[in-house]
Amino acid sequence: GVTPKIAPSMLSSDFANLASEAHRMINYGADWLHMDIMDGHFVPNLTMGAPIIESLRKHTEAYLDCHLMVTNPLDYVEPLGKAGASGFTFHIETSKDNWKELIQNIKSHGMRPGVSIKPGTSVEEVYPLVEAENPVEMVLVMTVEPGFGGQKFMPEMMDKVRILRKKYPSLDIEVDGGLGPSTIDVAASAGANCIVAGSSVFGAPEPAHVISLLRSSVEK
Ligand code: DX5
Ligand code: ZN
Repeated sequence: GVTPKIAPSMLSSDFANLASEAHRMINYGADWLHMDIMDGHFVPNLTMGAPIIESLRKHTEAYLDCHLMVTNPLDYVEPLGKAGASGFTFHIETSKDNWKELIQNIKSHGMRPGVSIKPGTSVEEVYPLVEAENPVEMVLVMTVEPGFGGQKFMPEMMDKVRILRKKYPSLDIEVDGGLGPSTIDVAASAGANCIVAGSSVFGAPEPAHVISLLRSSVEK
């Protein structure tokens, strides 16, 4: 079966203290650290790139789950691989013509490939990537428009999660955007097992409590 992965989004952390924020989340029980890489072009926000992943990698052995909200993800594969990224999730909207090459490159740089879909993109778009000879190992279903933390969860995206879970019982299915104590049950029961949560974790008085609540909802 699929195991829960709770991935605090470091987008909601104090970037000036990234290493201690990462340690804090791992100590609170996080499985992965979700790293939002944005280029100010695919999305209207600019965050971090390979130099910051490389700096953070020197301070932690944690799984760095990188989410590429960039127009040319292929350009980021080698730098992120060398920087020590663990997962590399690109958007299908940017990579319709070169996803095979992209997956191949991600794997050859020692990272785990994933594909993401924006709210307006239909779920069928990822089937060929999951069924390929050299497949993606995770599908990330966006539950907000990518670009910013702290937005409202879109429950209508759960149809995509249900369809994917039915079709691919052992696939890692990640959800990202607006996840927290009030939205986790609908996402977990739809079949999501990898849970990204930014503002709900970092904004909580007791983040460890939120992380364990998210985990127990997925385990139910
Ligand atoms: C949005 C990012 C998310 C974001 C989630 O574009 O992909 O990872 O940090 O933040 P919350 O959990 O606050 O919606
Ligand atoms: Zn993200």
